[in-house]
Amino acid sequence: MTELAFTRTTADRRSPAEREAILADPGFGNYFTDHMVSIVWTKADGWQTPEVLPYGPIPMDPASSVLHYGQEIFEGMKAYRHADGALVAFRPEENARRLNESARRLSLPEIPVELFVAAVRELVEIDADWVPSGADQSLYLRPFMIADESFLGVRAAERARFLVIASPAGPYFTGGVKPVSIWLSETHSRAGRGGTGAAKCGGNYAASLLPQSEAAAHGCQQVLFTDSATDDTIDELGGMNLFLVRADGTLVTPRLNGNILNGITRKSLIQLAKDRGLAVEERDVTVREWRAGVEEGTITEAFACGTAAVITPIRELKTADFTIDFGDAAPGPITLSLREELTGIQFGTREDPHGWIDVLVEA
Ligand SMILES: Cc1ncc(COP(=O)(O)O)c(C=O)c1O
Repeated sequence: MTELAFTRTTADRRSPAEREAILADPGFGNYFTDHMVSIVWTKADGWQTPEVLPYGPIPMDPASSVLHYGQEIFEGMKAYRHADGALVAFRPEENARRLNESARRLSLPEIPVELFVAAVRELVEIDADWVPSGADQSLYLRPFMIADESFLGVRAAERARFLVIASPAGPYFTGGVKPVSIWLSETHSRAGRGGTGAAKCGGNYAASLLPQSEAAAHGCQQVLFTDSATDDTIDELGGMNLFLVRADGTLVTPRLNGNILNGITRKSLIQLAKDRGLAVEERDVTVREWRAGVEEGTITEAFACGTAAVITPIRELKTADFTIDFGDAAPGPITLSLREELTGIQFGTREDPHGWIDVLVEA
């Protein structure tokens, strides 16, 4: 394995005044910090010396395999600023492990977990001033990998590049914890059996954009996908996992059926719910069950979860034929208290009983 010593080429940094102006209202995904990490891999020599470079364009041959066959995978994670000044990440090794699962599915090279975490640490350290300190703000980190061989044959590329870029971020959905509306996609699928649904690869998101615009046209912020074989069994949202909450406090969430992303927020919430003594059912869940449950009063809350959206209460599911509406019952109490607990751990205002916080830069 390559050494973990990074070479550093320092950028002409933006002025403190320019940075502060951006941090005052960063939105989501609009601005990037001064540096990035780049690590080249070749089949012959493995991972090369990791580099910290000024943020900017990367060299790209028009025949580069990612441009033709879409061999690309990515992760989404955040660095948080604690009150004592420490900069921390939430379960970064889980992101590394998931990137490697995606790599296996997309025939890209796996990256050693410690190299992935070191790359994230390196970037957060050099661009530490870009980690915002406002309420619900963080530094969104985007590690990704592309196939980068100049070759048009259809086979796994023998050269790849792993990069990490960072973007100061406010909430993904504006308006605080305002419940969102979601749209059921009945014409398009996100994934099918044996496909790439469980991988975090760019193609899955390209395919979700059309249904996402249909959702927007129906006044909804996100699109819900069902299993393409049943058109009823719930998979997940375009960029989040989904939970229903029963009146007795039981959480119900689609099982990892090979089509959905193994969300780190999902996994963490399952643990936190179990810590509270709540039952959690990971199983097939259908739109029919959701509809009947709300009508009968046995399903009382629904929420979406993911790194970007944290926990977002769902007010209604709209379909072409009917709407399932929680009305003013959303956001529900379990949704809100799980959100409070998880964000408390991430921002350091609550105890971290499972050791999920990894200090990247000491206070
Ligand atoms: C399709 C999809 N599902 C679920 C998630 C939630 O995953 P995580 O909680 O690891 O961010 C994401 C976000 O990354 C996503 O893009």
